[in-house]
This record gives sequence, structure tokens and C-alpha cells, in this order.
Amino acid sequence: MNDFTFLLPTKFVFGRGVTDRVGAELAAAGYRHALVIYGQGSVIRTGTLDRVLATLDAEGIEHTELGGVRPNPEVGLVREGVELARACGADLVLAVGGGSVIDTAKAVAVGVPYEGDVWDLFAKRAKIVAEGKLPVACVLTIPAAGSESSASCVISNDELKLKRGLSSELHRPVVAFMDPELAFTLPAYQIAAGVTDMIAHIMERYFSSVGPVPVTDNIACGIIHALVEEAPRALADPRDYDAQANIMWASTLAHNDIAGVGRNAVAGGRAGGWECHGLEHELSAHHTGITHGAGLAVVFPAWMRYVWRSAPERFLSFGRSVFGIEPVDAEADGVDVTPEEAVADAVTATIDELQAFFVSMGMPRTLGELGVTADDIPALLETLEQNKGARFGDLQPLTMDDARAIYESCL
Ligand code: NZQ
Ligand code: ZN
Repeated sequence: MNDFTFLLPTKFVFGRGVTDRVGAELAAAGYRHALVIYGQGSVIRTGTLDRVLATLDAEGIEHTELGGVRPNPEVGLVREGVELARACGADLVLAVGGGSVIDTAKAVAVGVPYEGDVWDLFAKRAKIVAEGKLPVACVLTIPAAGSESSASCVISNDELKLKRGLSSELHRPVVAFMDPELAFTLPAYQIAAGVTDMIAHIMERYFSSVGPVPVTDNIACGIIHALVEEAPRALADPRDYDAQANIMWASTLAHNDIAGVGRNAVAGGRAGGWECHGLEHELSAHHTGITHGAGLAVVFPAWMRYVWRSAPERFLSFGRSVFGIEPVDAEADGVDVTPEEAVADAVTATIDELQAFFVSMGMPRTLGELGVTADDIPALLETLEQNKGARFGDLQPLTMDDARAIYESCL
């Protein structure tokens, strides 16, 4: 197990009806004016926004609203938010929505004290400063990205066809309100994409270059195991409270680093090389209608098939823990396979099982299903290289030729 530093400052307020406690919690913490950010209408249709605003009114907390955040959020609305936060004198950014809304809130929060264009922070031309940065709170409406307590923020720039992550401990929200009943209105596709994203967040950390870290690895595989059981229940009945509650908490655990500590190859760094998120972010940067989790459902199994030979033991332990898959023992089982073939069969069965699970939830298997063709690959590789450099990743660093082969393998 490698050394790590882990601080999780987020307060979680979790359970039925916590949406009605937002104002009281924020008032107790001393906040006076919230810039409330939301998406393209679900929180209006479900009444969640009105519920939240009523709790602010009840406590005398002033509020200014900014709606319209789209999935794969764009920097244009972040710029608007920065101006609005400054103009109204907000002392808190309150996101009511999912990862896209929370990431917009995080970007606004770090943009307020920065005098230049907020995109500079994502282009790494300038650094986030703590002084003057606004705190972020969120009311989570979709369990998926884990942004409710993660140190990440991901924003797109349509003009440049870029989607960039910006990691900082300063991003972690001060408080996350997590009311599983808000997930009852989610379309099946979003439930499935959310679960896929959570599993991907855990696997990115699990398949790092670091060897076994049993305490962390068991947490990681245990969360995935639970998701494989709970997701079909939520899909069959989106109003199944316990299924939604378990999935919602899993989204947090999957991405707040608890499922990765000790697996970081670089001291103080994050566990894993995030290869599949790198590959996926190019897809949803160029094709803004692609849902992040759906893109991951396609590229993750393809990446696994491409790299597993660089760490067969790791893939075997994953298959064993999550799906109970063991390589056959040629002698004991009386079959005619070499030990190498037995390992390859077990790993392939594991990846097949994982992909079948994604597909069973309604996720795509191919890039074609997402509207991406072979002609799109050169442009994806161009911005991937700009974003990640000519070689990136950790378990098996990928060149642009590797990335091309992986994209081509899932056309
Ligand atoms: O916009 P509205 O109308 O609210 O609809 C949203 C949106 O269309 C809808 N929705 C949300 N809650 C709902 C609901 N519909 C009905 N009932 C509800 N209760 O769901 C759609 C997707 O919302 P979005 O916020 O985009 O989903 P998600 O949480 O998956 O966030 C995806 C974004 O987060 C980024 C992704 O790349 C993507 O841009 N990520 C952020 C991370 C982070 N900050 O830590 C990590 C991830 O790896 C990821 O990259
Ligand atoms: Zn993700």
C-alpha cells in the first residue's frame, strides 16, 4: 500500500426528505446569498427547484438563479455564472442537479476570484487560487458522476472541441444533500449510464500499476458487486427506494477516493491512469449528445481487452471478486488447456460478463450505436493528444496508435 493523504471535507445529508432541509443547514453554516444553478428543466418539472428555493426563503437566504446547464456542460454558461455570482454578491454556489450542474457550479466557484477568462484554468494556463473562491453545495438529483464529493470538475469548450478535467481538492463541495427519492424520476438510460460511470470510476483506480491493496480492493469490488445487484432492481422499478439509495451512496463512494487510496503510483497523486475517461471525454467533447456513462460502456471493455496482458493477475482478481470467475485448473478439471489459455479464458469471460451487464442495462456495445464512425477517429486522436500528451496512462501507458486501435476495436 502506498502513502496517501486523504481529506474529505464534504458533509453528507442523506435520506428521505433532506431536500426540505437545505435552507436550514445552509443558514446554520452562515450563508446569506446563494447562486442557484440547475439544468435543462427536470428540477422545474419535478418541483425540486421550488422545494429548495422555499427552504432558502424560509431562512431568509437570498438567491439568484441560473438555469440551462446541459449535459457535458459548456464553458459559456460558466462565464455567465461567474459574472452573475460577482454581480449578486453570492457567498455560495448551490447546484441542484447532477454532475453537469455540479461541475458548472464548481467552475463558477473557482472562476469568481480569477480575473482572466475562466477557461484559462481548464487550459492549465492559470492556477486555481483559494482566496476568494466560493464554496459549493449541492442537491444531487442523479447518482452518477460522483461530483457531489469529488475533487474533479469537467467542462467542455465547443469552439475548441475540447472537454477538460480540472482536479483540485478545493473543488470538493462543503455539503451534499442526497435524497434518493429525487432519483425516482430518472429515465432508465440515465440510471444505466450513471451506474456504468460509477463502475468505471472504481475500475480506473483498481486497474492502476500498483499491486494488491486488499483493504481498498475489497471496498472497490464490494461496491461494484452491490451495483450489479441493485441496478436491475432500480431499472425494474425506479421508485424502489432501497435500490436508489444504495446506488446513490455508491456514486459517492466510487469517486471520492475512498475506493482508491493506497493505489496511487505517484505519492499524493490520484490512483490509476484514467485511460478510459481520457478516451471517453474525447467522444463526448466532439459529439456533445453522447452521455458520458454510455461512452464508457463502449470504451472500457475495449481497453480491458487491449491491455489485460500487462497485468493478468489484476484482471483475474477482479473477475474472481466481482463475478466469481476462476480460471479452470486443467488437471483437476480434466480439460485440455494450458495455464496461459486458462488465464486468457477467465479474463475474457470477466470482460464479456462486464460488457453483458452494461448491455443488459441498455448501454451500447459499439461506437456505431453512439453515432461515431471510423472517419471521426483522427479528430478524436488530435484533441486526445493535445489533452493528454503523446503517451498517457498508468497500467499500460497508451500511445496514440494504441488509442486508435482501441477506438477501432469498438466501431
Ligand atoms: O438537465 P436536466 O433537465 O436536469 O436533465 C438531466 C440531464 O439530461 C437529467 N436528470 C438529472 N436528474 C434528473 C434528471 N432527469 C429526471 N429526473 C432527475 N432526478 O439527467 C441528464 C444527465 O444529467 P448530468 O448532470 O449530465 O449527468 P451526470 O451526473 O452523469 O453528469 C455527467 C457529467 O459529469 C462529468 C461527465 O463527463 C459529464 O460531463 N463527470 C464529472 C465528474 C466529476 N466532476 O467528478 C467525474 C466523471 O467522470 C465525469 O467525467
Ligand atoms: Zn466518469
